[in-house]
Amino acid sequence: MAFDGKAMFSVEGKKCIVTGGAQGLSRGMAEGLLENGAEVVLVDVQKEKLQQVVKDYCKMGYKAHGIAGNLADRQDIDRIFDEAMKLLEGRLDVLIPAAGIQRRHLPEEFPIGEWDLVIKINLDHVFIMIQKALGVMLKQPTGGKIINIASMVSWFGGTTVPAYTASKGAVTQLTKSLAVDCAGRGININALAPGYMDTEMCANMSQERKDETTVRIPQGRWGTPEDMKGPVLFLASSASDYLNGAVIPVDGAYLVK
Ligand SMILES: NC(=O)c1ccc[n+]([C@@H]2O[C@H](COP(=O)([O-])OP(=O)(O)OC[C@H]3O[C@@H](n4cnc5c(N)ncnc54)[C@H](O)[C@@H]3O)[C@@H](O)[C@H]2O)c1
Repeated sequence: MAFDGKAMFSVEGKKCIVTGGAQGLSRGMAEGLLENGAEVVLVDVQKEKLQQVVKDYCKMGYKAHGIAGNLADRQDIDRIFDEAMKLLEGRLDVLIPAAGIQRRHLPEEFPIGEWDLVIKINLDHVFIMIQKALGVMLKQPTGGKIINIASMVSWFGGTTVPAYTASKGAVTQLTKSLAVDCAGRGININALAPGYMDTEMCANMSQERKDETTVRIPQGRWGTPEDMKGPVLFLASSASDYLNGAVIPVDGAYLVK
């Protein structure tokens, strides 16, 4: 039978969880899924912002839900996941554990409390959410799709971001390790590695550093949350059924320059 592109890339009716959905790249990814007929639970620590985002999506006719919570707190993750599964009536097709933070200090001055926080959110919450998702997805005949969020610093070092760099390197390796364990069991685990994206996470960079970065991006511009939508639809749909453990740059060719 001919390849039916529309059906293969469809996310219609898929039940999804996206963490960090109140803003930025997570919001863009959740929006791409919602715009294409998926049902999405957005999770974020910014309660009021999240509520507003979800309200706006519901007004537009999308199937959006919001759960406010702190992904740095393991007990809260238990609550968040349980609530999400109730909202999604026990089925989970796509997990995107994308919430993340960045802290900037020279390594010799890096506060250990901030190290712990970055690792808790950027790495620990990713694994804990995946473990919980696997508990659901492995029992489903339809399996599931897990999309991690890596970074350019999954490949090279960034300045004054040792915890962030360590966490994103770990997410990359975690993606590969889990893909090996899950590929034969109906679960696709891959990662998207955004380049320099225009979100609040990069708002603390100096204008000089931003300009230097722009010059270094072959496509000539920073990425946006919109740029994540296409890659997410690919990884969330049947179009990527034979793709496992891939870490795909979404970076305007920054990495290959
Ligand atoms: N912006 C970039 O250039 C870039 C590049 C590569 C990777 N990334 C990754 O993309 C993801 C999204 O980043 P972004 O740029 O949209 O950043 P952002 O700061 O705009 O958004 C991050 C979201 O995560 C939420 N969050 C943070 N801590 C949380 C917690 N403890 N519990 C619940 N929610 C929490 C925030 O409230 C926020 O809504 C992150 O994993 C980030 O590391 C970003």
